[in-house]
Amino acid sequence: MVDSRETLTVNAFVVGYPIKHSRSPIIHSHWLKTFGIAGSYKAVEVAPADLGNFIMSLKHGGPGAPVGGNVTIPHKEAVCQLADRPDELARELGAANTVWMEEGRLCATNTDGYGFVANLDERHPGWDKTERAVVLGAGGASRAVIQSLRDRGIVEIHVLNRTVERAHELADRFGPRVHSHPQAALHEVMQGAGLFVNTTSLGMDGTEVPGLDFSPLAAGAVVTDIVYVPLVTPILKMAQEQGIATVDGLGMLLHQAKPGFKTWFGQMPEVDETLRSLIIADMERH
Ligand code: ATR
Repeated sequence: MVDSRETLTVNAFVVGYPIKHSRSPIIHSHWLKTFGIAGSYKAVEVAPADLGNFIMSLKHGGPGAPVGGNVTIPHKEAVCQLADRPDELARELGAANTVWMEEGRLCATNTDGYGFVANLDERHPGWDKTERAVVLGAGGASRAVIQSLRDRGIVEIHVLNRTVERAHELADRFGPRVHSHPQAALHEVMQGAGLFVNTTSLGMDGTEVPGLDFSPLAAGAVVTDIVYVPLVTPILKMAQEQGIATVDGLGMLLHQAKPGFKTWFGQMPEVDETLRSLIIADMERH
């Protein structure tokens, strides 16, 4: 007699709109192959108006139904609302990027902050010895960065934004360790900071990037960017030219994928050079 369980595969997805540029299938397919797991991870394009139906079908389950997946732009906020059990991280951010089913309930978390600090831990161990960090930008991506720095124990987190009201909103949301400033205060605020994070799209849309002087940063400071296309962003290039250590944003994408894989497929994967090279090769193709 054939045990039917042997033929079962575990299925997961990444849902977004559009989705064709997502690199998550490359990451998870690599790990499935590494572990020899009979599973699949597929990109699914779902328009905002159809997201509710997509979630319903997930909850109904059935043979071959996905056990969970990743959620990307523009669905991160909506999924957090639709989830039965968003965890504390997702609730505070108001956005989720990882979901799974448990006892017929949709659970959700956000692993972007985990990915952000895990990347720094891997590429620049000791980065967290500083008490002061500067975060440029106050958009959606900035939130997970601020939350993760606060939860790691960084004492003072300074957020600056072109539209200062958005920086104030984040300081209110994330508590007394987070301070907000207009972008014009950058030079002054950088004084003695051991970490500078760019979360803006500055320079990505072909606009001119203002020259940044990183000399006020503390000795041994590190500059990182959450944008990873190109790998060396204009801001990282400027920092390198000024002799400052840098960490690119690709590792954040790779590390944020780990907890989801563990939840759906039961094994904790590793981020290694082979995986990095696979993504870099894909970036060169597109
Ligand atoms: P995301 O969710 O990816 O962070 P977003 O919410 O659109 O995207 O945020 C983009 C960030 O880049 C914001 O901090 C934005 O500043 P504003 O809030 O003032 O719009 C910042 N940004 C984009 N272009 C910029 C520019 N030319 N100069 C300064 N900041 C810029």
